[in-house]
Amino acid sequence: MKHSTICCVVGARPNFVKIAPLMHALRSFSEIKTELVHTGQHYDHSLSASFFRELNIPEPDRHLNVGSGSHGKQTALIIERFEQVCFQQRYDWIVVVGDVNSTMACALVGAKLKIPVAHVEAGLRSFDRTMPEEINRIVTDAICDCHFVSEPSGVENLKIEGVPEYKIHLVGNIMIDTLVKQLNQIKPEMTLQTFNLEPRSYGLVTLHRPSNVDHPDTLRNLLLTLNNISRQIPVMFPVHPRTRITIDQLIDSGELTLNASFAMTEPLTYNHFLALMANARIVFTDSGGMQEETTYLNVPCLTFRENTERPITVQKGTSTLVGSNPDTILSVFNTIMNGQYKTSEPIDLWDGCTGRRIAKILAEKCRSESF
Ligand code: UD1
Repeated sequence: MKHSTICCVVGARPNFVKIAPLMHALRSFSEIKTELVHTGQHYDHSLSASFFRELNIPEPDRHLNVGSGSHGKQTALIIERFEQVCFQQRYDWIVVVGDVNSTMACALVGAKLKIPVAHVEAGLRSFDRTMPEEINRIVTDAICDCHFVSEPSGVENLKIEGVPEYKIHLVGNIMIDTLVKQLNQIKPEMTLQTFNLEPRSYGLVTLHRPSNVDHPDTLRNLLLTLNNISRQIPVMFPVHPRTRITIDQLIDSGELTLNASFAMTEPLTYNHFLALMANARIVFTDSGGMQEETTYLNVPCLTFRENTERPITVQKGTSTLVGSNPDTILSVFNTIMNGQYKTSEPIDLWDGCTGRRIAKILAEKCRSESF
């Protein structure tokens, strides 16, 4: 039987959660060898190594050590270094996941070197090109050879953009694979005890989108709204390093004072975070993945954005787009506290088996050599 090598690429925190189930599923195919390339876009232990350990991801075969930088610098470094790797190795397929700079940069390298590229989480569109991720999604999908899609809107978007149907595979949501697996392993009571929280009685916050956190006034207004909420329920906020920079500025200049019931921590490991998310009364976030995870967990989610590339989480799930207007945020918060909020419906193919579906399709493609 023909042997093939698939290169799996990761760079930033959400990528690790998506690659783990796929790498595990690919192990069932003895004719396939996988290599893992970590671009180094995220490098802090809390954003990278802790995920490898908890999710049992193998050590990267190659580390590009690109680190932080402007979009141009970071993307250029990834392209330059990943191209060198591709010159040395003979990859039959490259798999990129999600919508971060590493995703787009490595897809570009593959496309230029005529190595087929598969994109996991293809087709999602916010139709908001001020988001760096939207540019990454559009470019990646325009040049890749195989599109693995998590929800029906992604299939429609790709068709409208002219992607032939044979390249599009609706396979479900690979992040949910990780969630389902880890949910069986975690001990939520211990995490809740550590943070002195009672199940279903607190709010959990994450904020890291440039549009919400890079401008001190915008972030301050959001935090003050959450601070008001923390008078009713305790609020827990693991702070992304990008957000930390602006918060430190606000605190240093005396523009922000928060209640004791609004607690900030360092970014948490996947398992601790999942424990907090699964037991929260409400989640407040601007993360894409958390809109999906809260939908699966049936936890109310106030999404601090004007749009979403994951519309199913609003249509069938627990997410409501509340933007950054304090009145809207407080009004939806009150609906939840009054017990009048919607609940989620199960979503097709968000079943914990997406990694296996993708691995099977990739194995067939490797066998047939056509893409
Ligand atoms: C990136 C992704 C975003 C994803 C997010 C998940 C892009 C364009 N953005 O955003 O889509 O939702 O990851 O977390 O790819 N930093 C550290 N330690 C690290 C990494 C970053 O302190 O390990 C700090 C640096 O100051 C850096 C800043 O965070 O400049 C932003 O990091 P970057 O990777 O550029 O973007 P994120 O905001 O993390």
